[in-house]
Amino acid sequence: MPITSQPSSSNGPWDAKLQQFHGGQDWAHLENFIEDFSVTTNAFGMPESAKLASVRSIEHSHHYPPADQEPAKSSLAQFLWPSTWSQDTERLILGNGASELIDLVIRMAPRGTWKPGPFRTQYKEYERSARNNEYQMLDSESPEKANVACLVNPCNPTGDYLELAEVEQWILDNVLPGGHVLIDESMQPWHSPEFRDHSLTNARSFVEQIYKDHGISVFVMHSWTKLWCCTGLRLGSVVCPTADHMRAIKKLQVPWSVNTVALAFLDAVVNDHVYLNKTWQMTSAWRKQTVDRIKDRFPEWQCHGREFLSWVWVDTKSEEVAQKAVDLAKAHGVPVRSGRPGYNLPTYIRLAVREPSKVDHLFKAWETI
Ligand SMILES: Cc1ncc(COP(=O)(O)O)c(C=O)c1O
Repeated sequence: MPITSQPSSSNGPWDAKLQQFHGGQDWAHLENFIEDFSVTTNAFGMPESAKLASVRSIEHSHHYPPADQEPAKSSLAQFLWPSTWSQDTERLILGNGASELIDLVIRMAPRGTWKPGPFRTQYKEYERSARNNEYQMLDSESPEKANVACLVNPCNPTGDYLELAEVEQWILDNVLPGGHVLIDESMQPWHSPEFRDHSLTNARSFVEQIYKDHGISVFVMHSWTKLWCCTGLRLGSVVCPTADHMRAIKKLQVPWSVNTVALAFLDAVVNDHVYLNKTWQMTSAWRKQTVDRIKDRFPEWQCHGREFLSWVWVDTKSEEVAQKAVDLAKAHGVPVRSGRPGYNLPTYIRLAVREPSKVDHLFKAWETI
């Protein structure tokens, strides 16, 4: 393919013609920075135990990382499948953030049509990769089944969530025989301590059966940079339908794509039960407080999303008000994510769940709205 140069068009640090906009870029440029509300990371920040393990691992960073991603990969397998991990590890592979794996799986999928999940919008890197790989794009409402379908569940940013039986039905209704389906469960572990019982990672017999009966390959994607608040480290994984699918990804993946520091972090973080318990306990409580404050202060705004999630998706009902909320938040060192770039929903804003003292700063910023 000839390389043609295109003039770049900036959207902050993003090249708007070539890259997808994401939150999380403002903090470094704000002298008065207080808290980042523009990303969906865990309100408790990086877990200390794992941070320490990753800092210690710098000592070994003059060596290459392990080519088999061990022992971190098996540790994650034990986290996902406490009793059956030894048989499931061969279906798991780690990536340099979920973003790397999203692109790899879409690149190796059968070409043809591509379809997003049923919600109003969803995390856009799936679509970006599909466009780059010249799929024919179908609308989420299209009655047609697709060769490749991607569902973000729970959905960032809308906060919608399908229960396991609904996800299975959606796959049956939307994927062609021989097709690939990517289900993104990055935000699913927030569900509760029983999250595994509600996850497609544990629907082994469904995944096996649909592959056997229809040749449909189900991939379950996780970004671990949100739950364990380590966006700068880059950590993701995908659970493949079979070990052969895992090997097909491994064949394409560049060696050592997950670095020593990220592997050390992962190997430690899966054992931090205190961190996850406080995450399950406090996220929904703090989220409710934020939603109540919004209802009280801005009764015309509408809050969306399931109660356990780490963010609130808010329709301000006005493009002007949303822009003002974004501008004021940034000016006061508490940036939020606008719904305009990428999602094209300019009346919406997305704000992370954070502890109440940080939320005070955000509401102070919005005093003049
Ligand atoms: C639903 C979802 N999936 C995947 C990703 C990619 O995350 P990363 O590449 O940081 O692991 C994100 C990041 O925002 C996300 O929200």
